[in-house]
Amino acid sequence: MLNEPVAQTRCGPQDAREFLSLCRTVRSELSTGRYRHVLGVARTAERLARHYGASSRKVRVAALIHDISRAWPAQQLLDFMAARNLAVSDEERRMPVLLHARVGAQRAHDEFGVDDAEVLSAIEHHTIAQTGMSDVGKILYIADSIEPSRTFPGRAALEAAAFRSLDEGMLACIESSLEHLKNSSVTAAPGTLALYDQLAARREART
Ligand SMILES: [Fe+2]
Ligand SMILES: [Fe+2]
Repeated sequence: MLNEPVAQTRCGPQDAREFLSLCRTVRSELSTGRYRHVLGVARTAERLARHYGASSRKVRVAALIHDISRAWPAQQLLDFMAARNLAVSDEERRMPVLLHARVGAQRAHDEFGVDDAEVLSAIEHHTIAQTGMSDVGKILYIADSIEPSRTFPGRAALEAAAFRSLDEGMLACIESSLEHLKNSSVTAAPGTLALYDQLAARREART
């Protein structure tokens, strides 16, 4: 557990100790494969942060915690929300796995001392995007889609788009995810569709 809110931590050795402590906690909650994914997301997010001048520390912390509750069974996710009187949408009730993002953000705050709004929002929206996402949020969303252990065809094209601009990367990742959802007969979330429409309209205006 972090001893103080991330927003107030300093750079240097203290950061390294906290980072290792966070890694150990995350490692203890995840399978080997999921932990490898999380480290891949963190490394990819840090590369993007350096490229775009965003905070490496924020994206690293967001990446490490983003899937902290990904292995929780559906009932545990629903019980967590109920215990805190947090509303659950019909869509989340149908697919409780979606809740791992909101639960992760809540745990980041309650258990890991994260009080940075950008980090918490990035974790909360790493599966369902929304308009108005910060660069930290976009970086986590993209890194979650393109980290090296993802092996789907087209991953390299998504990465190339992400390093041209964050909005191009978001659009490419959402397009890829919509294609995947279409093949799985799952409806895309309204927030993701709203951001897709906004980014596609901007692309249209540029051409
Ligand atoms: Fe996730
Ligand atoms: Fe993930």
